[in-house]
Amino acid sequence: MSNPSADKNQMWSGRFSESTSERVARFSESVSFDQRLWRADIAGSKAHARMLGKVGVLAAADVDAITSGLDAIAAEIEAGRFAWQAALEDVHMNIEAALTARIGEAGKRLHTGRSRNDQVATDVRLFTREAIDELLMLTAALADALLDLAEKEADSILPGFTHMQVAQPVTFGHHLLAWREQIVRDAGRLTDARRRCNVLPLGSAALAGTVYPLDRRYVAGLLGFENISENSLDAVSDRDFAIETVFACSLIMVHLSRWSEELILWSTPMFGFVSLPDRFCTGSSIMPQKKNPDVPELVRGKTGRVVGDLNALLMLMKAQPLAYNRDNQEDKLPLFDALDTARDCLAIYADMVPHIVVKRGRCREAAAQGFSTATDLADYLVKQGLPFRDAHHAVGNAVGLAASKGCDLSELSLQELQVFSPLVREDVFAHITPEASVAARTTWGGTAPSEVRAAIARARAGGGKAA
Ligand code: ARG
Repeated sequence: MSNPSADKNQMWSGRFSESTSERVARFSESVSFDQRLWRADIAGSKAHARMLGKVGVLAAADVDAITSGLDAIAAEIEAGRFAWQAALEDVHMNIEAALTARIGEAGKRLHTGRSRNDQVATDVRLFTREAIDELLMLTAALADALLDLAEKEADSILPGFTHMQVAQPVTFGHHLLAWREQIVRDAGRLTDARRRCNVLPLGSAALAGTVYPLDRRYVAGLLGFENISENSLDAVSDRDFAIETVFACSLIMVHLSRWSEELILWSTPMFGFVSLPDRFCTGSSIMPQKKNPDVPELVRGKTGRVVGDLNALLMLMKAQPLAYNRDNQEDKLPLFDALDTARDCLAIYADMVPHIVVKRGRCREAAAQGFSTATDLADYLVKQGLPFRDAHHAVGNAVGLAASKGCDLSELSLQELQVFSPLVREDVFAHITPEASVAARTTWGGTAPSEVRAAIARARAGGGKAA
């Protein structure tokens, strides 16, 4: 990039008697990072020019020159041959200056009825909308991957935890469907944010609207915006849409981070519930036995960054009076970072999930420990007519005995169990296996394999769409 203070800025320097100091130029340039908006900027400028032609503000020849000039610039940028100049501050002025250098007079007419304030707001909305669409494809892919794995593991037994203590057996498929619910809601949040993002600010000009007879709906149509903004002051200064989107990204990350935490624990030999494919892990330079779950660890680590991006955007807005303030230039780095990070993390999870190896034997063994079927024993007594509270108490005593003997409830003899309740009969043992425990939990959304299969069928029928 060129020296930012090479010469004073021709776009706005009319009233200035000296050039921007080099320090200020370096401090205030944004082209080093907002050049990523170039596609949106060119699309927005082409639509604006076409509209100016349609309403008679620009001559058809000028519109043609602007359009082909911008196309040529796009090709140059695409090919990596465009010379971005820090002296021209931002992506908008870089492209406009290149256009004027290429086509002369007509290039200088492009900015009629427009300000960089409504221009940048439009560009960021176009960029964000496209990023949301990419995130939505990835959340759908990930939700599908979870559905497929849940189907494979619909019958597999896993210890279910509350307070990180063994609670009741669940099915592995049920656990995976819980993850899926989270990501489906995340997709719903993105879809919702997209609606409010998809509103055209262009036509608001600097802050007050403009004297030219702009056809804003026409521009909206050309750029695929569903609506046009209602208030020019709001439109140039609003960044809610970015904040909402980064919030949706933050929650995606928080969900992926929770899954990561589980995968990290589960892949340690003390749990041994899953093994992650080697290609998603790395070794240690000193300990030859190590296979580290780097991908989930990094996802967990990156979550802090994205939540930090959300905080940065919220703080960016908190003291801004209407209308546009230069503060808003600072929206880009956190927005880009959050979108990129959420995208990369979703993509790597969508890639990894189908290859998670579930160690069914080990999961089953762990699910049979920790008196995980104590509730089932209580439910058995309730079915014989005992009130639940009394059943709970009797089973508590039985657990005490089993704990002191160092065995599971199912390893106590019938006589030992009958000490706690005479209602216990020989058939009790069939009710307190992990398999019987999960099979009995057939409430809608419950853990029974039959219910997991029903939930999968419902999800497939619904196409994984969020409410
Ligand atoms: N680079 C600026 C931004 O990102 C563009 C708008 C600048 N507007 C202005 N009046 N200086 O917000």
